[in-house]
Amino acid sequence: MSRIKVSANIVDDLKRILVSRKPQKASPTSPRYRGRLMEYLIAIFLSVAAFGVVVLTLFYYQTTPFFFFDYLKVESTEIFTRLFLVALAALLVPGAVISWFLLRISGRQKLLKEKVEFDAQLFGATTDSIMVHDLNGKYVYANEHACRFYGYDEEELARINLYELNAPEHAETVEASIKELAEKGQFTFESAHICKNKPLTPVEVNSRIIESHGRKLIVSAVRDISERKRTAEELRQTSERLQRAIEGAINAVALTTEIRDPYTAGHQQRVAKLACVIGREIGLADEQVEAVRVAGTLHDIGKIYVPAEILSRPGRLRQNEINLVKDHAQVGYDLLSTIEFPWPVAKIVLQHHERINGSGYPLGISGDEILIEAKIMGVADVVEAMASHRPYRPAFSVEEALLEILQQRGVLYSPEAVDACIRIFTQKGFTFE
Ligand SMILES: [Fe+2]
Repeated sequence: MSRIKVSANIVDDLKRILVSRKPQKASPTSPRYRGRLMEYLIAIFLSVAAFGVVVLTLFYYQTTPFFFFDYLKVESTEIFTRLFLVALAALLVPGAVISWFLLRISGRQKLLKEKVEFDAQLFGATTDSIMVHDLNGKYVYANEHACRFYGYDEEELARINLYELNAPEHAETVEASIKELAEKGQFTFESAHICKNKPLTPVEVNSRIIESHGRKLIVSAVRDISERKRTAEELRQTSERLQRAIEGAINAVALTTEIRDPYTAGHQQRVAKLACVIGREIGLADEQVEAVRVAGTLHDIGKIYVPAEILSRPGRLRQNEINLVKDHAQVGYDLLSTIEFPWPVAKIVLQHHERINGSGYPLGISGDEILIEAKIMGVADVVEAMASHRPYRPAFSVEEALLEILQQRGVLYSPEAVDACIRIFTQKGFTFE
């Protein structure tokens, strides 16, 4: 792969990175220190040898350092020997000093090279694509992984602007991200990058601003998140399938109650619908509205405990039969509390006949002891029930049902639930159909 051309003022910085792309066998740790120790030992040996030659010379001729005057008196062979030893000492001493400095310099260079090679290995070993661009998106550097990921060689990659790497539909996001990056110095965002000979690839880009010789550069670590996206999509689909299965199970259970009591067929579904709209009108969170929907769909499940002939018999019920019917709230709780819903469905069902003045059942709790979801359910239940036909009475009009909850506002029913219910019927055109 050929070398890329980089801008002159950042060459120094990037040279360190580009200097070596070859895998290095040497570790930057122990061999480096063993090498340095050898260099120091050689220099010490040379110094000691030079010192030894000088000392031997002086001892051998038993003379002072002023041997220039002596050698006029001795034989010529001794003069040559003496001169040879002096020359040897004169060469060895500076040689040792120079070699000491040279070895230190080469040691530093070696350390620097090893560090550069180590850094280059780190860049090469990363599983992210590392790229450097200037603030205009002009290419500066890419590691080998980037070339493999995008399918371009370095020269091809060098001709592509940062903005052009992104799919056109992400161009605005990228521009906004770079602005935010310039303000914060670091930014992470998702995009889709265009690669050679493969479809658009979803990526997570972690960008950071660095400054080199007074020039600001964007260093980006680009991570392929195709697998993550695929897994998330599979999870979403699985979750949807499970949700649909749970929904089917809830509806099936709700249906078993209504099959036994044809007069209330559809009652739970309509209560759930009205209760959800009231919940949204009040401003409940989505989670709470979902809890209201599920609890509304199942709120009379406890009537499975009440004999069918009591549920469907026209005329007024006797007290013991009324008590039996009233047990449906507790029975519903007992049944639903065995299911681990992510919302307090069983508790809402238990409390849906509680009234804020404490006159409800089965616990007779009041005020804030009752869940807001249960208060909403109480209002929706009464309005739907009054507006529907029953074996023992004809249906009331919606206006009559609303008048009933208005008269009991703050007595039996939560004022905010009543107000919201009246608003959605009178101002927002709610119908059960
Ligand atoms: Fe009920």
